[in-house]
Amino acid sequence: MNPIIAANWKMNMNINEGLSLVNNILDSSPSKKSQVIFFPPFITLNAISDRLKNTRYEVGVQNIHHEQSGAFTGEISAQMIKSLDVQYAIIGHSERRQFFHETDYQINKKIHNALSANLFPILCIGETLEERESGETSKVLKKQLSSALKDVDSDVKGLIVAYEPVWAIGTGITANSNQVNEAHGFINETTSQLLENPVPILYGGSANADNAAELFQIKNVDGFLIGGASLKSESFCQIIKNIT
Ligand code: 13P
Repeated sequence: MNPIIAANWKMNMNINEGLSLVNNILDSSPSKKSQVIFFPPFITLNAISDRLKNTRYEVGVQNIHHEQSGAFTGEISAQMIKSLDVQYAIIGHSERRQFFHETDYQINKKIHNALSANLFPILCIGETLEERESGETSKVLKKQLSSALKDVDSDVKGLIVAYEPVWAIGTGITANSNQVNEAHGFINETTSQLLENPVPILYGGSANADNAAELFQIKNVDGFLIGGASLKSESFCQIIKNIT
């Protein structure tokens, strides 16, 4: 399987900045072997997906609402996204759980909605520092997985999981090889019990050009979900080059 490298721009990049970033990445053409997916903010989706048409790069959304339509001011549903040329949806990012109080129930509904709109979900899971320090990492990961995947067909295709320890996101502190090995192994074991098809598992949390190659050697690490280091073409292309 080719590595999956997903760029979560979060609330960064206006249209011109986003276009300039993808143009630079296209120009430096970092690798033909990786599957690269950009997650720009909603307002730039159209411009970025138009620019990436007929290239090997793909596009996704950072969030969807858990209902399909209705009186939810300011929200956007999977069904609305599908009218654009977009293939993926990040679901359950820890920033959404933490700052927007997303619940396991809503995350499960989002997974179902994404799948029914033919968007491939990237389900984000991960423990807080407090949970890790009290020895609850596996318990938390298992609960997040089983509640998010409740009533999902066991032969679902295209689902991706991202392991993003909350304490490693945006902090410059990356999970060490043992921690990544253990968490990815556990996620792999749990998803194989729940689902029939293999589920790629991405690592996210201060991944950068210096640590990506080493982390990518670890079993069950199938790629990365990158925040900060995806906002500059040099660092993003360097990650791609270092692992392919
Ligand atoms: P950083 O790479 O900035 O730590 O962010 C990771 C992340 O949250 C990707 O979704």
